[in-house]
Amino acid sequence: MLLSVIKCKLVFVFILFTVKSSNGLNATTIVLNKTLTWENKELYNSFIILKANSTLQVNCVNENLNISFITFQVHSHLYNITLYNTTNVYGSSVYGTNVGLYSAVIPKIDTFFIMNQNEIDLRVHISVHGYNKYDPIPGGCNMEFPVPISPYLRAKYNTDYILVDAAPAKDPIDDECNTTDKLVMLFYKMYLPEQNFDPNVYFEGIRQMMTLEYIQSYGEYVPDNGLHNRRMLSAYPGVGSIYVAIAFSAVNTSAYSVYVPTYSYACDPLVDGDCEVFDDALSQLICACLLFVGLFVCYFGHRFFKTEMFLIGLVSGGIVTYVLIALMADLTRPALLGASILSGMCFGAIWLLFWWFYGIPVLAVFLATLDVGFLFSAIIYYGLPGGLIALESDVNFWTLFICIMLITSLLLVSMTFLSNILCCAILGAYAVVYSMDYYLGSNLKYIIINTIRRAVVPKFNRAVLSPPFEWNDSLISLLWIALVISGFLFQHFHNYGRPPFPPPPRSVRPSMPRSMYGTTGPRSGRNPHISRLPRSTVITERSALLA
Ligand SMILES: *[C@@H]1O[C@H](CO)[C@@H](O)[C@H](O)[C@H]1NC(C)=O
Ligand SMILES: *[C@@H]1O[C@H](CO)[C@@H](O)[C@H](O)[C@H]1NC(C)=O
Ligand SMILES: *[C@@H]1O[C@H](CO)[C@@H](O)[C@H](O)[C@H]1NC(C)=O
Ligand SMILES: *[C@@H]1O[C@H](CO)[C@@H](O)[C@H](O)[C@H]1NC(C)=O
Repeated sequence: MLLSVIKCKLVFVFILFTVKSSNGLNATTIVLNKTLTWENKELYNSFIILKANSTLQVNCVNENLNISFITFQVHSHLYNITLYNTTNVYGSSVYGTNVGLYSAVIPKIDTFFIMNQNEIDLRVHISVHGYNKYDPIPGGCNMEFPVPISPYLRAKYNTDYILVDAAPAKDPIDDECNTTDKLVMLFYKMYLPEQNFDPNVYFEGIRQMMTLEYIQSYGEYVPDNGLHNRRMLSAYPGVGSIYVAIAFSAVNTSAYSVYVPTYSYACDPLVDGDCEVFDDALSQLICACLLFVGLFVCYFGHRFFKTEMFLIGLVSGGIVTYVLIALMADLTRPALLGASILSGMCFGAIWLLFWWFYGIPVLAVFLATLDVGFLFSAIIYYGLPGGLIALESDVNFWTLFICIMLITSLLLVSMTFLSNILCCAILGAYAVVYSMDYYLGSNLKYIIINTIRRAVVPKFNRAVLSPPFEWNDSLISLLWIALVISGFLFQHFHNYGRPPFPPPPRSVRPSMPRSMYGTTGPRSGRNPHISRLPRSTVITERSALLA
């Protein structure tokens, strides 16, 4: 018994010893002597290297008489650190990549400890901001965060959206926190270059979102979607985004304070392959196929009309099935994709058969124009600013969406032949762009993905889309436009002098209405024999068979 107690004690002492020796404690003193301006209340900033498994003690010496409290913030890239004052206990320590604590200046500023529990040395950025007694205290009316006064933001993400939370700020004239409405919280965000996980780029971004003057020039306002101190943003995995909140006093407009900025890549760059949008083999395969199918449809879609009919049916049926299954069951993406492709194929086959037997061009083309209408509505949704309360309601949103889709479709369908060529060019080019997008890491694929999220993801009506638009996005948009124009012109001239639509192979209707295109006017002069002869022979041959 005694022996075991002694053993226990020995083990305990041993653990204590190892903890102490590995947690090498270094100390540094920083002098807060910068003069503050209204837009820039940063008292101190610097980069510091934190050794693996070590703690740095930071003492602050204040030389600025006007400030009444400070926020002490530490930013690290990807790896979590712990920041605490005095003791590392629950309620006085913060764990994360972008951490910050509040400290009053009187009687004296707290001593802060920054702990790096990781096995590697970390470069961190330290910044201290000072505020006067009229400024709101960021996170001062906190109810949910573990630290009583929590001036930092929390960012959480899943595959579809990012949530950024702040604790309400406290107006200095209100000790009880019952007038939080006297304060206005504004959120800002900034995108980092797409698919760029470089720490220098990250730290530069953080620096640009720290003081009011920089936030106003680099940040983009994130509208309030009725979520008070929370913002919901559509996730673009692999695109770093930095968020910050500013609390303004509504009474005294010159008083404000800035929260500790935070960031999210909407994925974990430390986990291999996590930042790829399509991480499963099936999605990657589909993406590769899309490139070739897209080029084919863009340049030859109308010429190979039956193939086009099948593909249009496949895509429309696939999207509808995807949304319906995702709404009803909780499946993984490969399973969902597999199911929608199978169902899409059936749909494509049905659509092809429909053309095969009935051959009504207007109806056949209608589905293609509907798809273009869908894409057009999706582009409008993609470009909408957030915060439109009327569109948060699903009924309003989908009514408007379908109206735009139908109007586009009806406008297009009124010129059957040309519209089919145009639809082929637009949809084919988008398929090419979609798969190029995957390889270039740009964001045009989210035109469709965001719309599907809106349909499938619960509460996505509150999300602000505000997609990043950087140089590779503009490049790929130009590519899209170039493909559409070249595809349209190519098909137009390629089908010059041909009948507008090939005859349906086994039409059960008496005969196809003959269009004027290619039969009269100067155009027919080009090669009337070649263009008309095969068609009439085919028809007589087939109709004889049918009769
Ligand atoms: C602030 O303090 C540092 C370190 O003591 C000193 O080098 C610097 O000159 C001071 N700056 C001002 C504006 O007083
Ligand atoms: C303190 O504030 C007053 C008035 O706002 C200003 O005149 C003075 O220069 C400030 N002092 C310091 C040390 O910043
Ligand atoms: C950092 O902390 C968060 C939340 O506790 C956790 O999800 C994440 O995996 C941690 N990151 C690392 C690199 O340990
Ligand atoms: C340390 O931080 C906590 C949480 O903000 C606070 O309650 C406490 O007063 C601070 N100071 C000391 C000396 O613990």
